[in-house]
Amino acid sequence: MRHLITTGDLTTEEILSIFSTAQRFLERPNPPKLLQGKLIITIFFESSTRTRSSFEIAAKRLGAEVVHLDVSKSSTQKGETLYDTAANLDAMGPNAIIVRHRNSGVPHLLARHIGCSLINGGDGAHAHPTQALLDLFTLRYHLGELKGKRIAIVGDIKSSRVANSNIELLRRFGAQVVLVAPPHFLPETDLPFTYNIREVIDSVHGIMSLRTQTERHHRPTYASLKDYARDFCITKELIGDRDIVILHPGPVHRNIDISDEVLADPRCKVLEQVKNGVLVRMAVLVKLIDG
Ligand code: NCD
Repeated sequence: MRHLITTGDLTTEEILSIFSTAQRFLERPNPPKLLQGKLIITIFFESSTRTRSSFEIAAKRLGAEVVHLDVSKSSTQKGETLYDTAANLDAMGPNAIIVRHRNSGVPHLLARHIGCSLINGGDGAHAHPTQALLDLFTLRYHLGELKGKRIAIVGDIKSSRVANSNIELLRRFGAQVVLVAPPHFLPETDLPFTYNIREVIDSVHGIMSLRTQTERHHRPTYASLKDYARDFCITKELIGDRDIVILHPGPVHRNIDISDEVLADPRCKVLEQVKNGVLVRMAVLVKLIDG
C-alpha cells in the first residue's frame, strides 16, 4: 500500500518518474483512461480553494469515479470519530482517499486505519506534498536543474505546510533555499534567512511568496497586513527587470503578497502552477493506484 503523506514518502527517482508522466500528460491533452473503474474519495475537513478541485479534475481526466464527502453534512458533525469515518469510507472500497485537515498528523493516523492509498491534501502547518511537487515541476520547467539555483521563500513560513514540503524537496534537488520573513514568521532553521528581501533580490532565481496564514495564528502578529506588505510584498519596484520566476501556491492576497502589476507580469507563474497541479496530481494518482 502506497501513501503520500509527506514528500519524504517518494524517492528522488520516483519524483522524476512522476514528472516525466506529468510531462507526457502536458503534451497529450487526452490521456488514456488509466484509472477507469477506480474510485477516489476526497474528504476535506478544512476549506480548499483549488487543491480539491485539482485532485478531482485529475482523477476524472484519467477516467476514475470521484466521490466527495461533504464534511459539513457528514457524521463527523454528529460525533463520529475520525477513525470511524475513515473506516466507513474504506469499507466502500475506494482505491484512494485524499484528505485535508487543519491538524497536523491526521493523514498519518488515518493511513493506519484504511486499506487503500491515502494522499495528504494538506495537514495543518505540517505538509502539502502535491503542492511542493507541482512547485518543483514548475520551477524546473523554467530554471532547468535546480542545483546551485537560489530560491527565496517569502512570508509566513512558520505556519506554512507549503513551505515545509518545499524546503525538503528544494534542498533535495540541490537548490539553495533562503528564508525571507519577519522574525515572528520564521521557523527555527539551519537555513540562511533574512528579514530584508532587498538583501537577496540580486542573487535569487526564484521567489516563492506565501499567504499569511492568519487562521493558524493564536494571536495577531502584524499590526495589519498592510504593514507586512510594505516590507514583503513582491512589487515591480522590488524585482525591477531581473530575471526571476515568481510562484505562489494561492490563494494570493493581492497587493499584500504580490502586487497586481507583478501578478500580471509574465515572470509570475501562479496560473501555470495551477495548470501543472492537475498534471502532477494525475501522475501521482497513477503512481499510487496503478503502481
Ligand atoms: C495552500 C494551502 O491550503 O496549504 N494553498 C493551496 O493548497 N493551494 C496555501 C494557503 O492556503 O495559503
